[in-house]
Amino acid sequence: MTGRPGFESAAADLPAARSFPWPADGLLYGGDYNPEQWPEEVWAEDLRLMTEAGVNTVSLGIFAWGLLEVDQDRFEFGWLDRVLDGLHGAGIAAALATPTAGPPTWLLRRYPEVLTVDAHGRRNGPGARLGWCPSSAVFRDRATKIIEALAGRYGDHPALGLWHVSNEIGNENARCYCDESERAFQGWLERRYGSVEKLNQAWGTAFWGHHFREFAEVPLPRAISGHHNPGLVLDFHRFSSDELLEHYRFERDLLRGLTPDVPITTNFMVKPTMAPVDYAAWAQEVDLVANDHYTTAADPDRHWSLAMSADQARGVGRGRPWLLMEHSTSAVNWQPRNRAKEPGELLRDSLTHIARGADGAMFFQWRQSTAGAEQFHSAMVPHAGTDSKVWREVTRLGEHLGALAELRGSTVEPASVAILTDYASQWALTSWGKPTVELDPLDLPTTLHRLCTRRHRQVDVIGPDADLAGYRVIIVPMLYLAYDTLAERLTAAAEAGAHVLITYFSGITDQAGRVITGGYPGAYRELLGVRSEELHPLLAGETRRLDNGWSVSSWTEHVHLTGATAIAEYADGPLAGTPALTRRAVGAGSATYLATRPADDHLQVLVDELLTLAGAAPVAEAEDDLQVVRRRIGDQGYLFVINHADAARTVTSSGLDLLTGQPHIGTISVPAGGVVVIKETNV
Ligand code: GAL
Repeated sequence: MTGRPGFESAAADLPAARSFPWPADGLLYGGDYNPEQWPEEVWAEDLRLMTEAGVNTVSLGIFAWGLLEVDQDRFEFGWLDRVLDGLHGAGIAAALATPTAGPPTWLLRRYPEVLTVDAHGRRNGPGARLGWCPSSAVFRDRATKIIEALAGRYGDHPALGLWHVSNEIGNENARCYCDESERAFQGWLERRYGSVEKLNQAWGTAFWGHHFREFAEVPLPRAISGHHNPGLVLDFHRFSSDELLEHYRFERDLLRGLTPDVPITTNFMVKPTMAPVDYAAWAQEVDLVANDHYTTAADPDRHWSLAMSADQARGVGRGRPWLLMEHSTSAVNWQPRNRAKEPGELLRDSLTHIARGADGAMFFQWRQSTAGAEQFHSAMVPHAGTDSKVWREVTRLGEHLGALAELRGSTVEPASVAILTDYASQWALTSWGKPTVELDPLDLPTTLHRLCTRRHRQVDVIGPDADLAGYRVIIVPMLYLAYDTLAERLTAAAEAGAHVLITYFSGITDQAGRVITGGYPGAYRELLGVRSEELHPLLAGETRRLDNGWSVSSWTEHVHLTGATAIAEYADGPLAGTPALTRRAVGAGSATYLATRPADDHLQVLVDELLTLAGAAPVAEAEDDLQVVRRRIGDQGYLFVINHADAARTVTSSGLDLLTGQPHIGTISVPAGGVVVIKETNV
């Protein structure tokens, strides 16, 4: 039992999923290393402390362009030679960055046209980072020079383990509205639609008389008094993601040509919030999915949100092991109130990512800066020095990762539940003019992930094109766009025994954003055996009751049964007596339609009922508040149990706790806030 067949074979098909020399033995451990911020005397101490903490990998040179190319075509590599030699001497690998996330001030002064323009036509100024337009030919030209110089100098350096392309591409340059971008957008549309008539048809430009005679007339969705065509807005998001990806590809291909044997990645921002790019597409272009994740201090559910982010990072890579490239040892400095992590939270957070498939845990950053915009952001070596909670936990994490080295090569065992999400649906759903402002595309995916995960079920968060075979429960949560063949594949999965849950406002439009007529939800009417004739979103604060006692808010709709049976009906309001929750038996499985938004407690009842109906087994028998995940290599299971409660909780398993060396049989007590990793016997 080594993994879901479909999941793995999909990964094997990925063109860029090459096998490559892993930069270090076991799991990777380290962080962003910015020695250029410190006098050279500190570098020797850095190496000593890195060794003490068990660091084996650092991301290097991310923002060092201005110190490497001090003026146009004038390079100074001496300092970086010494850093790389030092790292190599200490047995530490470098994820060496192409420094394009931090263009030098001289470049931005000399070529201001590379800077992005916002929707109001204002050009960004120099001073922060990224900030360049991905369509800029001048920027590509300058990037080529520094990348060729860097790869020429360090391509054979023994410390070079991995190329780290730029940094969070799209973070500060997600959308550009300059004229060069507009021409690139028009070219992208021409390639996508072939003829302007097809584009007019797809977007429905007859509405408000927007008909275009040629691609050169299509505008970017700049700030205007009024609203753009939603098809145009959606395609601008797709174009922007593709254009940023094109920039990544350009850097990658340059590096591949110069250093064919060095693996290449770039750090993603996969998290349960809106993303500027389509990471499912990006994941196919990297040798190793690398992700950055930061918890939101004010969110009491942040550990659930972290779990979902990790499941998404695994999902975009179609089950491949991935790398946590950045997270924080304690507080960040960009939230309104930057709470320090509680004792043990660092370990729980890091090990949750490892449990869910990461083969390494790295931080932003190694040494806490004294100056610059992030001087109050935590780091592995805090301002306070090594006599600190943070350093003690950093060294403890290093020991733990060392003890877990044999996990390298294992994968998270097949999940019983799949949640389908897609970036394009999120972008489409959030453009202006929908039935209610309460249509949050992230609400149901994150809530349903939490409700399944807290019942100790393993969940895969996957795209609508992923293989659905083997899942017991498949959830389609407000997946607004319809996808080619998805309805057929969901039907086939249900016929084979899966229990499918589709929620309201899924499958509403085609890929261009045109509504599918004949009753909602257009794409899934047949599978669900329902036809909804009118949408009835509720007003702010309004609630309805169902005849099973549930309370619902935000959304209702007028559903007719065309093959399904009603499980619950509205008990009050204008839709009283009509179905709110329906189910249709499909082969050995079923298709459930949720036409409203129950309170979370009531949604949990639905989830529990579906998990039972589907026979979706828990990962292990465990008490509430525990997160349980199993990784496997062949028949060997490794059970991660993470206790987020302030009291001990129990789980049933037998084997050796790799973190303490203690053997366990049967019931294991996991201390408050603690983590155990059981190398299992008899499983
Ligand atoms: C990331 C970024 C890092 C650092 C960090 C702070 O988004 O890649 O360079 O800024 O945030 O949390």
